[in-house]
Amino acid sequence: MSVAERLAHVETERLVCERLRSEHASELISLHRDPRVARTLELTGEPPSQAQIFERLSAKIAHWERYGFGLWLLRDRRSGAMVGRGGLQHTFVAGRAEIEVGWAIVPARWGQGLATEMAHAAVAAAFDELALREIVAFTLPHNTASRRVMEKAGFVFERSIIHVGMQHVLYRRHVGEPGREVAPMVTLSRPTSGRSHC
Ligand SMILES: CC(C)(COP(=O)(O)OP(=O)(O)OC[C@H]1O[C@@H](n2cnc3c(N)ncnc32)[C@H](O)[C@@H]1OP(=O)(O)O)[C@@H](O)C(=O)NCCC(=O)NCCS
Repeated sequence: MSVAERLAHVETERLVCERLRSEHASELISLHRDPRVARTLELTGEPPSQAQIFERLSAKIAHWERYGFGLWLLRDRRSGAMVGRGGLQHTFVAGRAEIEVGWAIVPARWGQGLATEMAHAAVAAAFDELALREIVAFTLPHNTASRRVMEKAGFVFERSIIHVGMQHVLYRRHVGEPGREVAPMVTLSRPTSGRSHC
């Protein structure tokens, strides 16, 4: 099985992480059009249109096809309900090409450690599967929850930056650096089926 096939379906203790596909569109719309998610995820702070969400989904699907990794739709392992999206993707930030990890969780499930659990899976994918040397994460300075997820996943604050015309904080994690918490169980297996700023 190729790395891309393994990364297309990743399971953690409480999550199933599925390679983003076109049939995830309606679930992504419900996530991204929630004003509580848009407030810190969108450049405008406002929910994107359905058309924008479709356009971005096409780009995420193309990213998977080109690089063999990308963003996942996150499901509760027990119920199968969509609980968010996140994962690794190429980006250009602070004048450099980087690979970032990003996350968004449905508000009803905030504060349960799900973003951190996904972040650990993304770190494992980056270093163990993709053999990357370093990855970044960045967010708006006041996004305390996201900064906390970065810290819990072993990212270290590097510097304040301007990204897409706005102040952001940039965090980085190098291969071999320990996370702050024990990584959850991560299993990689065969797939079962077939713009924000972070
Ligand atoms: C950021 C986000 C993904 C975090 O998801 P989550 O599953 O709730 O994250 P976790 O439960 O793993 O960890 C959140 C941490 O932030 C802390 N936190 C949350 N809100 C906080 C606040 N206002 N001030 C201080 N800490 C806060 C939590 O207490 C927790 O830390 P702890 O485990 O030390 O108690 C979620 O809030 C979200 O989807 N936000 C909207 C989209 C977004 O901003 N994405 C990131 C863009 S870069």
